[in-house]
Amino acid sequence: MFPLNRNRRLRNKESLRNLIREYRLHPHDFIAPLFITEGKNKKTPIESMPGYYRLSIDNIKKEVKSLWSLGIQSVLLFPKVDDKLKDNLGKEALNPHGLIQKTIKEIKNSCPDITIISDVALDPYSIHGHDGIIKENKILNDETNKVLAEMALSHAKSGADIVAPSDMMDGRVLSIRTVLEQNNFLETGIMSYGAKFASSLYGPFRDALDSKPGFGDKKTYQMDFSNFKESISEIKADIEEGADIIMIKPGITNLDIINEAKNTFNVPIAVYQVSGEYSMIKAGVKMGYVNHNEVLIESLTVIKRAGANIIATYFAKEAVELIS
Ligand code: PBG
Repeated sequence: MFPLNRNRRLRNKESLRNLIREYRLHPHDFIAPLFITEGKNKKTPIESMPGYYRLSIDNIKKEVKSLWSLGIQSVLLFPKVDDKLKDNLGKEALNPHGLIQKTIKEIKNSCPDITIISDVALDPYSIHGHDGIIKENKILNDETNKVLAEMALSHAKSGADIVAPSDMMDGRVLSIRTVLEQNNFLETGIMSYGAKFASSLYGPFRDALDSKPGFGDKKTYQMDFSNFKESISEIKADIEEGADIIMIKPGITNLDIINEAKNTFNVPIAVYQVSGEYSMIKAGVKMGYVNHNEVLIESLTVIKRAGANIIATYFAKEAVELIS
């Protein structure tokens, strides 16, 4: 009680604030998402994600080395698939010599200790830009699961340490886990997007991969952002089906759910600070409305405070450069 307690005492100087700080960012907290493109020596700017690029495999290898030297020890891979290779069934996703499979192998050779996480979803491969196989404008759940499981197996065979289903079909974690077990990939991890909301914050990512849905939206599989309890059941189901890590996304709009997941479940919680979060900050900075370094550290620290053990963010490198 005042004046016995004066909260400002411990805010008195920076070293004291540093001493009592509850949460701080560490390079090992981060996963760096990487966009891969075919070709050699490519570094293609993504218009709606200022400062972020699609890289060809040779440049991805350089980037991975640079991340590793900063202490960022895991990467999340997304391929930009050529239009000619897209279909309704995601056939290219299973190509053992496909872009993502090649990238996984090359990273494994050049930086074997880094944790390679591969995205498992059909949207980059789909002529419709959807995460599932389509029949009469409906996304087929169980048929999609079969392909996702084969896709995950193909990534595991290429050397992925963790596969990350980001599609939100029901039962896909069980399908993937079953196929991995049957093929003796007993140590391949699954980081499932347990609670992924149908968010308008994914727009810049869809530009990056040219994967905008051709019709409709993703609301029959991704969750309604109005729902809290449903997100907890979704996460629970994924853990029961064999997920090792669960992912919540977007980040800043789901701090309540991150916190509830941390208090409810005993698996590591990953949070994805998504493309729209990145681009909104970059835009605010460009306009001179907010301070770049301060906003990015604040946005990431509060995601950690809410309960994230792991943060996937396009700011990984910039954040680590700032904190070290
Ligand atoms: C699709 C996928 C998306 C993201 C990751 N995986 C977009 C979507 O669901 O349309 C979004 C990531 C971001 O916005 O940074 N499987």
